Amino acid sequence: MITRLVKADERSVAEAAALIRTGELVGFPTETVYGLGANALNEQAVRAIFAAKGRPADNPLIVHIAAWEELLPLCHPNKAAERLAEAFWPGPLTMILPKKDIVPTVVTAGLDSVAIRMPSHPVAHALIQESGCPIAAPSGNRSGRPSPTLASHMMEDMDGRIPMILDGGACDVGVESTVVSLTGPVAVVLRPGGITPEMLAAVLGEVHVADSVMRPLKEGEAAPSPGMKHKHYAPKAHMTLYEGRAEDVASRICAEYDALAATEKCLIFSASDHLALYGARQTADLGPDAWAAAHAIFAALRQADTDGVTRVFSESWPENGVGLAVMNRMARAAGFDIIQV
Ligand code: TXA
Ligand code: MG
Repeated sequence: MITRLVKADERSVAEAAALIRTGELVGFPTETVYGLGANALNEQAVRAIFAAKGRPADNPLIVHIAAWEELLPLCHPNKAAERLAEAFWPGPLTMILPKKDIVPTVVTAGLDSVAIRMPSHPVAHALIQESGCPIAAPSGNRSGRPSPTLASHMMEDMDGRIPMILDGGACDVGVESTVVSLTGPVAVVLRPGGITPEMLAAVLGEVHVADSVMRPLKEGEAAPSPGMKHKHYAPKAHMTLYEGRAEDVASRICAEYDALAATEKCLIFSASDHLALYGARQTADLGPDAWAAAHAIFAALRQADTDGVTRVFSESWPENGVGLAVMNRMARAAGFDIIQV
């Protein structure tokens, strides 16, 4: 199959919507990451998403809508969902709610809940609206790879597997949406993202963050969100995260880098402010703060692979605000190899 990479405009979005209506897959930009979309109500089309990604069938998909009313046939919303939608939709927030029968079980991997999100990106919004159906879309990477934040990333992973990718430029947030479960008495963040626990708590009063956000699942432990049990974002390089005071972390990273530099291709993920601490060593600048790091992390992981890097030494970011989302992705990319300095 030839994959067309097309700049998103009125005409290409109309073509993409026509593909979705006929059960095909389309790559499209959202404000978080690029998604791999198909008609959520077409079981065959949804199966093709799993095949194109190489995604395990037990990992459910997010269903994307363009207006609140479109959620009503799909699930049973509650008061918390209404309040969060009011505050954060359209935007980078996914809500888990009890599903209705119309949602095929392939979408939810057999769960009795469904993940719903209303993206704010104008291209995503137009595509859903013109397709005339809810769009099931995971991130547009091959399973296990970093999520795509540029159309070219999606092309790397999906060339030859899908008919079309809409190029809408770089994604704003850079990490996937916050996933919050609203199926129990208290809202639980299953995956941190651009809508932070602090922001959710400001609306709902009480919010929990699932333990597994910052630690690996134990042997045999049930995953609150199936996505958490799969290997994620891993670069080809061995990656290690260092936590502690910036100066201490830098001197430890420099020592380990120098010990390995003769035999390994090493790279340091650093905040802009700390670059000078690494002298002439190879660094990737992840920007001045956690928002910048969220925007940069997946591209940096992909670039490390492209450059043949075999060892990544990474600084840490404080686990508050969007820093929690950054650290959740980094800890997984590092396979939880985290060193306290
Ligand atoms: O920002 C995003 O959310 C992007 C864009 C394309 O919208 N999509 C995305 O989808 O990241 P994906 O499939 O890569 O991640 C969906 C996450 C997975 O961790 C999955 O396990 C979880 O949501 N999820 C989906 N349905 C669920 C459900 N019913 N209960 C618990 N977790 C669920
Ligand atoms: Mg994903």
